[in-house]
Amino acid sequence: MTGDIRRRLEACWSRSDEIFDLLEPGALLDQPVALRHPLIFYLGHLPAFAWNQVCRGALDRPAFRPDFDALFERGIDPMGVDHYESAAEWPPISEIIDYRDRVRHELLTAIDEVADRAAEDPLAEGGRIFEVAIEHELMHQETLQYLFQQLPFDRKRRPQAMAPYRFDGATPPAVVEIGGGGVVLGADSSAGDFGWDNEFPQLEVSVGDFAMDRTPVRNAEFREFVADGGYSRAELWGDDDWRWRQRIGLELPIFWSHDNGSLTYDTLFDRLDLGVVRDWPVYASHAEARAFCRWRGARLPTEAEFHRAAYTTPSGENRRYPWGDSAPSPSHGNFDFHHWSPTPVGCLPGGDSAWGVAELVGNGWEWTDSVFAPFPGFEATIRSYPGYSADFFDGLHRVMLGASWATPTQLIRRSFRNWFQRHYPFMFAKFRCVRGR
Ligand code: AVJ
Ligand code: FE
Repeated sequence: MTGDIRRRLEACWSRSDEIFDLLEPGALLDQPVALRHPLIFYLGHLPAFAWNQVCRGALDRPAFRPDFDALFERGIDPMGVDHYESAAEWPPISEIIDYRDRVRHELLTAIDEVADRAAEDPLAEGGRIFEVAIEHELMHQETLQYLFQQLPFDRKRRPQAMAPYRFDGATPPAVVEIGGGGVVLGADSSAGDFGWDNEFPQLEVSVGDFAMDRTPVRNAEFREFVADGGYSRAELWGDDDWRWRQRIGLELPIFWSHDNGSLTYDTLFDRLDLGVVRDWPVYASHAEARAFCRWRGARLPTEAEFHRAAYTTPSGENRRYPWGDSAPSPSHGNFDFHHWSPTPVGCLPGGDSAWGVAELVGNGWEWTDSVFAPFPGFEATIRSYPGYSADFFDGLHRVMLGASWATPTQLIRRSFRNWFQRHYPFMFAKFRCVRGR
């Protein structure tokens, strides 16, 4: 068990190091998204978070760099502004690297100490506080990609082993009728598996019959919405969605551009013709997704409907993954950096759910129309970080489920709930249409 934690910490750190190595020298000080800190913040944030949770939070060790523990403690998710002023001056990179390496060393020495406290402290039980630190870093490995995506191409370099882009093999559009019934949301606390506070307690709910698109909306379909004036028809948008769209001047999904009279699509490393990626899922904000659904005479699924389509079978069983109970592998979906880009929708039929719905996990998170809210009986169980979820129970964040190409495999579990503001357009987030209720 403790050997396992060491191995997993080290694997996590080496991927974080590879990710920061994608930046050209100097790019650490760039602030590619005005609503987030410059990239250098995250170099300090990953170790600061781990220190604050494990060494300070669970073990109460004295600080060796209290200024960094505070400076890098948390990023923000500002509401109602389009730009925010980040600190003008950051410490020298070499000091942050020294801090990171010292924290990593301290964490390794903490493994046995945490194990010794397992009986008396719920944060230590089963190494839970290490899971907090590891999953936090894994989540940022993805959220860093959202920021890198917004950097100019000459500020980053492609990873050494990057699979060629895939353009063929999409599943044609179809509609799948899903029979109503029960779903199990959240995780079972008595099973001892790790989950964040928002995954507990487990909750059973039932949903009615509905029809769900077999595949998420692809770029070619979204292009029809754009061509039909989707971004200039206020009636398709909610009032505050429309005001947001107007204020920031959004005329296309942010991964798209007008370039020399044609529409293009930016991956992390290349500008491609939009026609070439016609079968990749469109990545869009919740506001754009809802406008598209309204244009189609459809709607977004609820959190429970997504679960019904993904994790139940027509004969009434519950499964761990859409494809069954076997561990996630590259034949099941596009996640864990198998590709550094989307792939054609439904091109991996090994990931189909029992109902025949394609790629519910992988190739982009999927928007639901459910407000990110606690399940009845929620408790902020991470004593060292009570605001992890609770700070976002404000009615303004929506639940995203599944996984993207940049989601590490460890985060792929049925109960995992992701969330973002409706007006934050930077995620690898797709959506699909449902009808009926
Ligand atoms: C769960 C991905 C929405 O990135 O804002 C990272 C995770 N919380 N550091 C985020 C998180 C604190 C969170 N998401
Ligand atoms: Fe964080």
